[in-house]
Amino acid sequence: MCGIVGYIGSRQAGPLLVEGLERLSYRGYDSAGIAVMDQAQKIGVCKTKGKVERLKEMVDKQPLAGKIGIGHTRWATHGEPSDQNAHPHTDVQGEIAVVHNGIIENHIQLRQYLEQYGEVFVSQTDTEVIAHLLHHLYDGNMLHTLQKAIGMLEGSYALVVLCSREPDALYCVRNDNPLVMGFCNGEGFAASDVTAMLSHTRNVLFLKDKEMAVLSRTGVKLFDVYGNEIEQHFVRVDWNLSDAQKGGYPHYMLKEIFEQPEALQKTIASRNVQGDFSWFPFSQENAGKISKITIAACGTAYHAAVMGKYFIEELAHIPVNAEIASEYRYRHLIFDENELFIAVSQSGETADTLAALRRAKQKGISVLAICNAVGSSIAREAGKSNTLYTYAGPEIAVASTKAYLTQAVLMLMIAVTLGQMRGRLDTQRAHQLRESLEQLPQKAEETLGAFDQIQRLCDKLYQKKHVFFIGREKDWALSMEAALKLKEVSYIFSEAYAAGELKHGPLALLEDGQLVVAVLTQKRLAEKTINNLQEALSRGAKVVAVCTKSVLQQLAELNTERIVIPDMDEISAVLLAAIPLQMFAYCMAVARGCDVDQPRNLAKSVTVE
Ligand code: AGP
Repeated sequence: MCGIVGYIGSRQAGPLLVEGLERLSYRGYDSAGIAVMDQAQKIGVCKTKGKVERLKEMVDKQPLAGKIGIGHTRWATHGEPSDQNAHPHTDVQGEIAVVHNGIIENHIQLRQYLEQYGEVFVSQTDTEVIAHLLHHLYDGNMLHTLQKAIGMLEGSYALVVLCSREPDALYCVRNDNPLVMGFCNGEGFAASDVTAMLSHTRNVLFLKDKEMAVLSRTGVKLFDVYGNEIEQHFVRVDWNLSDAQKGGYPHYMLKEIFEQPEALQKTIASRNVQGDFSWFPFSQENAGKISKITIAACGTAYHAAVMGKYFIEELAHIPVNAEIASEYRYRHLIFDENELFIAVSQSGETADTLAALRRAKQKGISVLAICNAVGSSIAREAGKSNTLYTYAGPEIAVASTKAYLTQAVLMLMIAVTLGQMRGRLDTQRAHQLRESLEQLPQKAEETLGAFDQIQRLCDKLYQKKHVFFIGREKDWALSMEAALKLKEVSYIFSEAYAAGELKHGPLALLEDGQLVVAVLTQKRLAEKTINNLQEALSRGAKVVAVCTKSVLQQLAELNTERIVIPDMDEISAVLLAAIPLQMFAYCMAVARGCDVDQPRNLAKSVTVE
């Protein structure tokens, strides 16, 4: 979604802002722009519809001189993608420039109000009201002005403001939208995402809601909503720049698929699932009281939640609802005082998941967050001791791969832990599961070996127009993720069905050559899914089976393509099967010439409703 950068220091701001925007371009956007203030305190703006490369060409031709500036990549919400609607937006005099992520919900009322005072609007965006509002309220002190303005703004925002009358500072504020400050050797950085400043500093400060920051060449000053200066809370980010670069891979998505053994290793090794449960936020007594669990998330994270449901119900014997966060936040719910709510989010910034978490908290039930991004809004909302991090490292490709697998494995670890705490898992079974978890990174490494076979297969299949993914139970949960992955990167219409549902309707769509991908990692259910495959084959379907070595024998003479994954404990083998299905989506997309890392219409982090 939209990206923000800001710079103040001793170097020319223009190139640094463009570099920051390039680093944020993975988030998805349709226009880009920068505003830079020169020594004469004049603000120059350059913005354009389209890619950051276009912006770079423009500023290369006509550089904007100055050592302070702001930049933005826009993902259109209000008003089409156009030069005019691109950020930064300014007041009429061009003395105040703003970049904004989020949505100003009362922008129409504010626009009408400001027009009465002669403010003239030139774009269709909600953001433009902020520039005019700041101009209208300006009292010679931008911090006071910002404070007054946020009292009038409704909605979500991360804002960075450049003001020609106060040339030595950038003014920043956030509400329900991420904003990070960085400072190092007389240079200040602001960004919506820490990856934009990793090449300059890893000492960062995540703004909290309604906190205001003044970024200057001497440091960062932090103020609360009443304008009182407050203590700073810098943290050190472990991610480094090479984690956030392609490292020789043609695409981030492929790099991130291949990083999964390491990501799994980090997530698994950091917690003991047998004996010492000190990493787990709940005591044995509290774990024993949990009456039900709700796991809410969006997209891929929701699919990890569905997988978590199966793991927890099977191993810990607690009823679990996996909920789509955008539904959970509004629908009628029956809460239970002993319920546990779990939010799952890679970015920790997804607006719907954050709102679902807040709803659960308001009801007073226990909460837990599973996040990848340290210091993110969801992690903060849940609280430090109630957040479990997946250690996947920065995930840049819009299509989530390593974050999904680490979320799912963390779900399994929670299930194993709860199972023992509640006396549902005996020592021997817990021991087997622990060993199986420990083997997972190595088995994932072996599974990556299927890449060439999958590439060859996709070179034959990439023109397919529709794909069905089928499986039962955990294999169905994975099928949903496989279908999402394929549709988002290759634009092939794909749908996941519980295998037993085929004959209840979808078989009507089966015709000669229809591609069906079956997930078969559970021996006890394989025979049933194979029966469903027979139904599909007899109607002319082309079948690809993703199966474990032991299920392979059950496929016998069936006419299918086979992608075989190593054998594992039956409960965890499904995690391995995610890898070939991610590679399948990737290879299909590459064969079709799609922009794998930045699929059309999608954003990495969905910070608006
Ligand atoms: C994943 O491939 C997607 N692009 C998307 O569904 C994503 O998982 C979803 O938007 C949730 O994001 P989050 O994990 O950052 O909350």
